[in-house]
Amino acid sequence: MRVLKLKELEERIPKLFGIPSGVPGLDDLFFTFTMEEEGYRKVPLKGLPSASVVHLTGVPDTGKTLMAEQFALTQAARQFATLFVTVEVPAPFLAQGLRQRAQALRLAWEEIEDKVFLLELVRLPEVRENIGELCHHLTQIIRDHNIKACVIDSITGLYEGKETAARTIVRRLYEVMKEHYQTAIFISQKRSSHEEISAEAAGGYGVSHILDCTLVLTKMVVSRSTSSFYGKEPGDIVRTVRIDGCRVCGHDPRVHLLEIEETGIVRVGPALSAKAAELRTGR
Ligand SMILES: Nc1ncnc2c1ncn2[C@@H]1O[C@H](COP(=O)(O)OP(=O)(O)OP(=O)(O)O)[C@@H](O)[C@H]1O
Ligand SMILES: [Mg+2]
Repeated sequence: MRVLKLKELEERIPKLFGIPSGVPGLDDLFFTFTMEEEGYRKVPLKGLPSASVVHLTGVPDTGKTLMAEQFALTQAARQFATLFVTVEVPAPFLAQGLRQRAQALRLAWEEIEDKVFLLELVRLPEVRENIGELCHHLTQIIRDHNIKACVIDSITGLYEGKETAARTIVRRLYEVMKEHYQTAIFISQKRSSHEEISAEAAGGYGVSHILDCTLVLTKMVVSRSTSSFYGKEPGDIVRTVRIDGCRVCGHDPRVHLLEIEETGIVRVGPALSAKAAELRTGR
């Protein structure tokens, strides 16, 4: 077993920069800092932390797939080859969603269609259930097509019926991503019985501890008592997002509103605490 001096790693320390997520408002929630004489200064990262694996988790209909689509399309539009691993939705249906999202984001489809690679595992239970084989395929695809960004929707579908193996499976996938410096989004599905926005809520099974950063999405129905706070009618839906830890860089820890527009575009809104302060001061 070889032990390394920090100095030996100097050449291999990856540069940290922002990768535009394609989700308006999300990029502003990550930052680094510089040290000045008068103290430290926050420097917005303007994107997801580069080469990090982001865990996106939430109950059904919270906007996880939409956000991942926006991320994949945005990387493709920047001319970076992107792999979308679809575990639940057949590839043609995913492509349909991607096309609608590209239209809504006003991205040129001709510039994108060659850059997004879809790996469909829907009808391949033997690959889904063999993590060694799946990692081998992923490695090949990443190398063959010079992939820079990955989405897996969802990792939950890879440990169905064998939840005790969840951490081992996710760790193997994480290692492939790290080895190839991928900026990745792993989606996991949360049961509504899991506590709402805690770390345990984040996909359960201790998956969050392995990945670099976790975004927890929630959804609730507005009640009579909360309707004036949200500026919505009772019975309307409110969605939120919170960064539930990020080991790569600084981040906004607050719960933010999350809007899904009619065109299916997800955007991050103001922090709930900022909204409450606004109401208090009557602005
Ligand atoms: N144009 C649109 N296209 C698709 N979804 C839209 C659109 N407009 C609004 N939506 C809302 O976004 C939701 C889809 O969100 P999304 O598919 O990202 O959910 P999810 O969190 O991935 O859910 P699941 O865990 O079931 O996969 C729809 O159920 C709908 O409420
Ligand atoms: Mg989904």
